[in-house]
This record gives sequence, C-alpha cells and structure tokens, in this order.
Amino acid sequence: MSVTFRPLHPLFCAEVSRDGKPLDLRQVHDRETLTELRDGMDKYGVLVFPQQPFTNAEQLAFAQRWDGALHAKLGSNVVDKSRLGNPALGDTSNLNADGKVRDREDRHRLYSLANRLWHTDASFRAPAGRYSLLSTRVIPKVRADTEFADMYAAYDALDAATKKQIDKLQAHHSIAYSRQTLGFTFSEKELDNLRGAVQPLVRTNPRTGRKSLYIASHANSIIDWPLPEARLLLLDLMTHATQPQFCYSHEWRDGDMVVWDNLSTMHRGRPYDDINHKRELVRVTTLDADHVPGSEAKVLDDAALV
Ligand code: OGA
Ligand code: MN
Repeated sequence: MSVTFRPLHPLFCAEVSRDGKPLDLRQVHDRETLTELRDGMDKYGVLVFPQQPFTNAEQLAFAQRWDGALHAKLGSNVVDKSRLGNPALGDTSNLNADGKVRDREDRHRLYSLANRLWHTDASFRAPAGRYSLLSTRVIPKVRADTEFADMYAAYDALDAATKKQIDKLQAHHSIAYSRQTLGFTFSEKELDNLRGAVQPLVRTNPRTGRKSLYIASHANSIIDWPLPEARLLLLDLMTHATQPQFCYSHEWRDGDMVVWDNLSTMHRGRPYDDINHKRELVRVTTLDADHVPGSEAKVLDDAALV
C-alpha cells in the first residue's frame, strides 16, 4: 500500500501516513518507500511524520537511509559543545549539560535565540545542509511552533526582471552575521573561525528542475555588489519570501518528526517562554550532495567546529 500525503497548506507541507496509520520510519528500509517519500519531499518541501519514537541512534540511521551523508558541522564551537556527544546530532533544546533550562543570560541561549530568525540550516557552510530531520524529545505545554516558508513559491512569485537579476548572483552566508544582527558579540578569535560560505541565491532541484530562492538571515552580502545595495536586495527578498501566504506554522505534538528540504524552504523557531519550559528536539541534517566543490559554493571556513 502506498504512502499518503495530506497537504497541510495550500502550497507546501504534508503529513505522511500509510493505510490510514502513522508510518514507523524506524521500520522503513525498502527503496520503494524511500523513493516515494523523497518524491513527496520534492513536491511538498516539508513532511510531518507523527508518532515517531526515535532514539538518537535510530534517528542517525534513518537520516542516512534517507539521504546518505550527514552534516557533522552543524553549529559552532563558540558556545557549549553539544550535550549529545555526536557532532551529527544537533541539539535543538533550551537545556544545559545538567538537563536544566538555561538561564536568561546564558551565552549559549543568547546564541541559539538566532534560530528564531528565518534561516536555512548550515547555509554558512560548504557543502550546506540539505535535509533536516527534527524529532521531538520533550514538547513544552506552551506552544512553541516552528514556522516554515516555501522558497519554490517565493521564487515563482518574483517578477521576471527580479528573477533575471538574481539568477546568477551569489551571496555570502555567515552564522556570525545572523547572531550579530541580534546584538550578539564574538571575540576576534571566534570570528576568525566563522568566515562562512558563498552560495547561489537561486537553487535548482536536480531531480525536478524546480528553482527556489536560497536566502537566510545568515546572508549578509552579495559577491561583487556594494554592501548597502546588497543588503537592501537581501532585505527585499526576505520580506517577499516570508509573506503569510508562503508560510506554515507547525504546532508540535509528542512524537512528531518533521523533515524539510533546506534548499526549498526557510524556517524559524517561534518565541515561547524558554526560561520556564523545557523543550527538547534533536536535529540531524544531511549534506547538500549536489554541491560541487569549487563551482557554486566556496568553502571559506573549514575550521574544526561544533
Ligand atoms: C533547527 C531550528 C527551530 C525551532 O532545529 O534547525 O531552526 O523551532 N529549530 O526550534
Ligand atoms: Mn534551523
């Protein structure tokens, strides 16, 4: 019996089931189902899988079945090392090493607050992130959504002149920049290790030929453009791309796993009272396999991070 995709939004995002029941991804090993799921991903950009009781090891194993190589440099070593003990496990939580919620002034917390800006994962690295698999461990009683924006639809809705203007442009992405826009400060030494990566402004899905806008709060300049002009274009594109008609907000339920394509979507965490409520999700991100070294994305920083 084949997989069913129930759309959650007029443009993108779908919830996945089989035979009217949740599909247990821990048991999905066959090529046929994985191909169906990837085809669904090419269409919807964000897939929601309810009732997935993943352990960290099972999540790592499934991510590899989904798309091969894992991204093992998700964050930066300017804040605490991951509690999770494996550089391919991203800690999307508000917890410290003792499993307690972080204090308001905790530097790691302040750094992580930038996840509430629109972004796409690891665009400040080359290769960037391709698919992110975010799985619940502890969901707070208060609502703490993750919001997604459809970058296929955002690209399609640009006027022809803008499409032509941006088609061959490249932007520089840096994780330091997205944090600095919130007033977070780094030492010179830290900045030295955070030089970022150059990425095309428009990406093409190699399987479908569909184009998407590839921007993020990490994008801070356009190669060969004067900086103020570049920042204005990036701001305009960001405003355009995050209009309500392109956005879906996911309200987490216990057991949810959400998988998204970082080339065709942006996302952001929504504000919640993180000082008083534990929230723990684990993220695994795969590598952008379409990246050809030296072609569209340049490595500017390959320092040992995470
Ligand atoms: C992430 C992320 C947002 C959230 O895990 O990559 O951006 O809602 N999360 O926590
Ligand atoms: Mn993210």
